[in-house]
Order: sequence, then C-alpha cells, then structure tokens
Amino acid sequence: EKAGFKHFMLKEIFEQPEAILNTVKGRIIPDSGQVDLPEIGLDDETIRGIERIALVACGTSWHAALVAKYWIEKWVGVPVEVDIASEFRYRTLLLNDRVLTISISQSGETADTLAGIRLASQLGSRILTICNVVGSTMTREADGVIYTHAGPEIGVASTKAFTSQLAALFLLTLYLGKVRETIEPETLRELGHALVGIAGVIEEELPTIRSQIQELIERYYDSRDFLFVGRGLNFPIALEGALKLKEISYIHAEGYASGELKHGPIALIDKDMPVMALVPRDGVYQKSISNVEEIKARQGRLVLIGTRGDEHLPTLTDDVLYLPRVHDELNPLLYTIPAQLLAYEIANRRGCDVDQPRNLAKSVTVE
Ligand code: M6R
Repeated sequence: EKAGFKHFMLKEIFEQPEAILNTVKGRIIPDSGQVDLPEIGLDDETIRGIERIALVACGTSWHAALVAKYWIEKWVGVPVEVDIASEFRYRTLLLNDRVLTISISQSGETADTLAGIRLASQLGSRILTICNVVGSTMTREADGVIYTHAGPEIGVASTKAFTSQLAALFLLTLYLGKVRETIEPETLRELGHALVGIAGVIEEELPTIRSQIQELIERYYDSRDFLFVGRGLNFPIALEGALKLKEISYIHAEGYASGELKHGPIALIDKDMPVMALVPRDGVYQKSISNVEEIKARQGRLVLIGTRGDEHLPTLTDDVLYLPRVHDELNPLLYTIPAQLLAYEIANRRGCDVDQPRNLAKSVTVE
C-alpha cells in the first residue's frame, strides 16, 4: 500500500503533483482564463459584498492560511485576518454577515477549527471550508466547500494536503478576483497557467531535490537545532519547514521571517546553527540576501534554496539547492518540497517513526 516507498510520508510527498492537478482539474481552464468553483456556496452578489475575510486553521493548515493572506490581499484587495483556531475561539470576534470566514482543514474534524466556525456562524458570518475529507463534520456545517482532492493522507505530517490547500486557495483567489473584477482577464490567464503548470514542475524536480537533500543530510542530521527563514510568500513556508522537522525528527526548529532575525533570533547564530534560507529571485530577493549575509557573517551553517542560475548563492555557502524559476506567486508550492524532504530524510536517518511521530495524532479531535 506504500507503493514501494519506505513510508507513507515519502509516498505522499511524491504524490503532490497529482494531488495538485486533481485539485485544480475541472475548476480552471487556463486558456480562456475561466475559473469555476460550483460548490463554493456563495453567489456573485455575496462575493462582491465581502468586506473582510477571516481565515481559521491549525498547524500546517494555518501555514496555508498565512500564504493565502498574501495572495488574497494582493489580488482581490480584501483585508484578510489569519488566526490559529485555538486563539480565534477565545478572543473578541468582530464578525458579521459581510465577513467571510474560511476554515482550512485536511481532516475536517479538528476540534478547535470546528468550534471556530460554529462561533463565526453564530455571529452571522458565512462559512466556507477548504477540506480534504468528503463528508467530514466541517464540510457538513459550512455553507460552502472547496475540496482539496489530495486523496487519503496517512502520514501524520501533512504534505500533499498542504500543497493541495495552497492550490485550492490560489484557485479561490483567482475566482474572487474574477467575480470582483480585480484581476484583468489577461492576468487571470497567466496566473491560471502558472497554477496548472506548477504540478509538472514539481513532478520533474522531485527526484533531483531528493537526491540533493540526501547528499546534504549527513552533515545535518545530528543537529540539535535548525532555523528556517523566508520572506513574503515564503515566510509561511519557513514556518512549515520548521514544523515538519520538529514533528518527525524531534529536532528543535524555528521558522522566522528573514527580516525579523535582527530583532532577536540572530543571537542564536554561531558555527553550529544550521539555517535553511529560502531565497528565490522574487521581488524581495535583495532584502533576503542581505539577511543571509548577516547569517554568514556570524558563521551560521547555511543551506540556500534559490533560483537556478543564481551565481551569487555558491559564494555564500557550499550547500546550495537550485529550483527552476516559476511565477513568483507559485513559489510557495515549489519551495515547500525541499523543506519537506529535508525533514523526511533527517527523520529517516535518525531512525524516527516517520509516519507515527510520538505524542501526535493525525486528527486532533480534542481541544
Ligand atoms: O486536519 P487539519 O488540517 O485540521 O489538522 C491541523 C493540524 O493538526 C495539522 O496540520 C498538523 O499540524 C500536522 N500534523 C502538521 O504536519
């Protein structure tokens, strides 16, 4: 049932191209710029009336929400707030019928997320859920659903569900932008193409990324700590890399926004501190590189993930992993792959129970 893979997690990492394609299939026709989300449960007039969006989720699904905030605010122009469900539930919520609440959950059963949407619904907010499990509690209680079609995810560490959530959230961004006319038809086509194309890029790169990570890990698997840094759309991916590593390898790991290092965490950097930095050639590249230079100046052990052809990177460290250039907006899907594989290979090398890490359950139905 693991189809020749040693662990479900590895199998699920390799299933990501298919999971992403299944999630976008039938919902987007890139050539015509057509995006359709029939199960969304919101008519065009309601969509045009949305004044704010509240995203609620836990763990990895919360990281997907953080990426979506960047996308929706940029392309749809609606303010987005993002909450961890266990915080959302217990703070003062300013919601009403012009706020759309969106829960993001692989299982559709996470207790805090479920409680969050119940509260939001009582306050008059419309509820949309992005979910992977057909018929789960969350999908039954929401006004609308966008299913991620990732297929069953067995490994406790979420992988293909996450990249499928990103695909679904990008689709949602395009759909909202189409209805509210904040995205030009030409741009809609371009972004649609980029979304559909990312599955093929990941498919092609996966084996190379894995073998490059395997070459690295002998030098990193016995680290005590690990930092992940990124900016903009890749900041949540740094958080995701750190979560993956700590949950399956039990190495202490933190993710930071690169620009935040100088406000404290840089004090941790010395010759024993590994730092994976996500530095694609995007709009914040120069800023990211100057942060990386600060890490280098303090002898941090840098692993750089950047754009193929970027000749500056090997001047900063020997451990450079290149990814192809894709549309900047889709970088989070691509840059997740090396972070997942780093966590997987390190946990495997340390002999950890990758699919069933200690103290964790696949579906967190307790509060
Ligand atoms: O089923 P959900 O997406 O609601 O689950 C949320 C978190 O429990 C989940 O993402 C958790 O953080 C994963 N184990 C991370 O890999």
